[in-house]
Amino acid sequence: MKILMVCLGNICRSPLAEGILKSKIERESLDWTVDSAGTSSWHIEEIPHKGSIAIAKENGIDITNQRGRQFSVRDFEEFDLILAMDSENYQNIVQLAKDKLQEVKVELLLNYAYPGSNMAVPDPYYTGDFQEVYDLLDLACANLMAELR
Ligand code: 4NP
Repeated sequence: MKILMVCLGNICRSPLAEGILKSKIERESLDWTVDSAGTSSWHIEEIPHKGSIAIAKENGIDITNQRGRQFSVRDFEEFDLILAMDSENYQNIVQLAKDKLQEVKVELLLNYAYPGSNMAVPDPYYTGDFQEVYDLLDLACANLMAELR
């Protein structure tokens, strides 16, 4: 299974989602690939936001080796599942899909926490609430693993 987490900047939400899912995968010795990207080009090659680094570290997860990158149409071929943090990310990715097969790879991550809710992961770049984001991502990733493993 190859999973790509996507947000706007690839410095707050998706790097944390990548770190959380990778830590769960390692714990269960699953042979999955997890990566993350942003729909924007604003933070290419940057390290994650200090708030994301801190909340990850509090939970025993090191995300300091991650670097920002922008989503690319090649990711539709590379990944099985592309998980968007909010509906704007979802729309921005889906509009790059070349066919239905690519389009159906894109889902909202929080539908794994709250099925059918189409909830967004609130952006801590604006809210400053990294704990809330961690808790939502942790729940969604736990359910995702239970569903897909
Ligand atoms: P992210 O948050 O999409 O969760 O990484 C943001 C990061 C940076 C900006 C906006 C949102 N920005 O405007 O630079």
